[in-house]
Amino acid sequence: MKTIVLSLFFIISTLPLSLWAEEGSINVGQDGKSWVVKSRSSTYKVAVMEDNTVAMCYFGNNSYDDELITSAQGNEVTVRGGFTLQTPMVEVIFSDGVRDIELIYDRYEIIDLDGYPTLAIYQKDRYYPLSVVSYIKVIGDYDMMEKWVEVTNNSTSQGDDILIENLQSATFFLEKNQYELHHLSGEWTAEYKPYKTLLTQGVKTIQNKGFYSFGSSSFVIRPYGEQSDTEGEAWYGSLYYSGNWRVDFEKFASGSVQVTGGINFWDENYLLRPSKSFTSPKMLIGYTKEGSDGVATNLSSFTRDKLLNPSNREKVRPVLYNSWYATAFDVNEQQQLALAQRAKSLGVEVFVIDDGWFKGRVNDNAGLGDWTPDRIKFPNGLESMISKVNELGLDFGLWIEPEMVNPNSDLYREHPDWAIHYPNRTRELRRNQMVLNLAREDVYQYLYNSMSTLLRENNIKYIKWDMNRPLSNVGYLDAPEGESRSLRILYVENLYRLYKTLRAEFPDVWFECCAGGGGRVDLAMLSLADFTWASDNTDPVDRIFIQHSYLSSFPAMSMISWVTHEDHHHQNHSLEFKFDVAMAGVLGVGYDITQWSDEQMDIARAKIAEYKRYRPIVHHGDHYRLVSPYQENRSAVQYIDKESGESVIFLYNLAEYPVNSVKETLNSPKIKLRGLDVDAKYRFEGDDIAYSGRMLMDIGYDFGLRGAYKSGIYRVVKVAE
Ligand code: GLA
Repeated sequence: MKTIVLSLFFIISTLPLSLWAEEGSINVGQDGKSWVVKSRSSTYKVAVMEDNTVAMCYFGNNSYDDELITSAQGNEVTVRGGFTLQTPMVEVIFSDGVRDIELIYDRYEIIDLDGYPTLAIYQKDRYYPLSVVSYIKVIGDYDMMEKWVEVTNNSTSQGDDILIENLQSATFFLEKNQYELHHLSGEWTAEYKPYKTLLTQGVKTIQNKGFYSFGSSSFVIRPYGEQSDTEGEAWYGSLYYSGNWRVDFEKFASGSVQVTGGINFWDENYLLRPSKSFTSPKMLIGYTKEGSDGVATNLSSFTRDKLLNPSNREKVRPVLYNSWYATAFDVNEQQQLALAQRAKSLGVEVFVIDDGWFKGRVNDNAGLGDWTPDRIKFPNGLESMISKVNELGLDFGLWIEPEMVNPNSDLYREHPDWAIHYPNRTRELRRNQMVLNLAREDVYQYLYNSMSTLLRENNIKYIKWDMNRPLSNVGYLDAPEGESRSLRILYVENLYRLYKTLRAEFPDVWFECCAGGGGRVDLAMLSLADFTWASDNTDPVDRIFIQHSYLSSFPAMSMISWVTHEDHHHQNHSLEFKFDVAMAGVLGVGYDITQWSDEQMDIARAKIAEYKRYRPIVHHGDHYRLVSPYQENRSAVQYIDKESGESVIFLYNLAEYPVNSVKETLNSPKIKLRGLDVDAKYRFEGDDIAYSGRMLMDIGYDFGLRGAYKSGIYRVVKVAE
């Protein structure tokens, strides 16, 4: 159907047309030189100006009358050249040394990408053989768009290279106003701390310079003073990029703001040879009238429904056991099997051996790079261990950190130059390891062979792919000519290639993305992996904060959380509390369960059974963050299956509020639910009263949970009419 619409469209492309208006549309102006891109809440307008440049005219509320949007706010693709008033997306040096670009309009087309209408605007330099295509893909059903660019060197003469010094994925301008930026930054074990900052004249940049970021490129911009999380305007975005990225927010004297994001070209460039193209990663952007929570809903449901790796997207995630907290590097067949037996009796579905299983890995000083089982620890290889785990009825998984090497490894002794370094400079170690230069084809092949052999020769159904240090000393000395400063870009290309190749070859294997915890969580990784290890911090109270932030952008089915012995603040939490926290995502157990008493085993067994009952809603439902632990001494999150109307609410108290105490009377004990049908009736499990959806959402419900570090999980069902 869509193809017919498209071909018709090309025949009569000078008429104003609206494609797939329900799901987002692209309306072409009478003259064929302006485009209004609509999603559910937003309008985005682009137009060719009199001087033949392509302008970005408006992005925001779809109530704006389209025909009244006439003036340019900035260029659709900003460049270094002419007056340098905007943050440039494209900066190049032509082969004769000229560094200015002058882009003019060439043509456009509308194409169908993954079922979504996509506007492609072609521009070319007035003189040099450079062309730029800028794309806008309208993901109307999730109220968002993806933007990216492709640059091409159209010369055919050898040596007529164009050096890209900067190429950003997208830019957009906001009308003059006072704006606040909300973003997440963090560090190891304290990921995704939410920050809010006023944008004043100048540039605010969020970025990553070491491939390792415990924050996020996700951002939300709100008019200054907007307090409500659930209402009001919010512009948002996030990058599909796992290497170095940046997002710049430039506020001009006039009061307008330009947002630009993409690869961070700091200390990086890319040589575009004749007849070659380079495509930027995508940037997702959107606008909603439903505040930061509207952003969370759009981003997380899109990621859950469309982005996560399709091999496993429809499946509920398994309950895991991971032996890292129990045995660290000291692993052997007998002791792992003892853990697996206990794990099985709890209801666990996948048993994962973490670090320590491979050759020479007695501690973190040795072994990374040599991806064969340690013969001393596993004299019979892994096969015997795996078949015994399988006989128990469990799938088997392994930890691997492919991109790294310990100097104390066979790999490094054989190929010291495969590790990223400079001559005459310190070879910096972090956790006793260096980073392999994955930009190199031989390194790529080595890693592909190691990982595919491991997966082919063993019945492995789960890979935890870790990355435990940032880049340093980024030298690429024997690089092919012109590529020495492209290492980071080429590395990421090969990283994605490795993921994609392995996933295509082993489609029934689960992949967990880990980087010392949540050091590499972004939309690109989420499209390659099934889930991420959100943090190395498993203290339940810290985790409540980390999970609350994680859920501001990403879905619960991508967030692994384990129950472990960690108790950073010496609060001696109950096992029930720990389970209730970890059950709000993808549940794992990390204790030394061979030491558990019968009572602990019973609690865990009951909790895992309870989790399995709620799991389809937690994994495939929408979520609402009802109460933020950053605002109150408690936290609540609701998961809802929109079709059946069933909800599960996780509530955590972080302080003791005796009934009618001063503090309690300051904080309304009622919590308002969301996403219900106003006219329908709902019942809480264990409570006979039927409440209207309207009342539960407008007035709220007193969950009656009292006491610090107490938690409750509540099931709410829609009463049949
Ligand atoms: C990282 C991970 C941990 C664990 C260790 C193993 O820190 O985040 O979960 O796998 O490595 O060395």
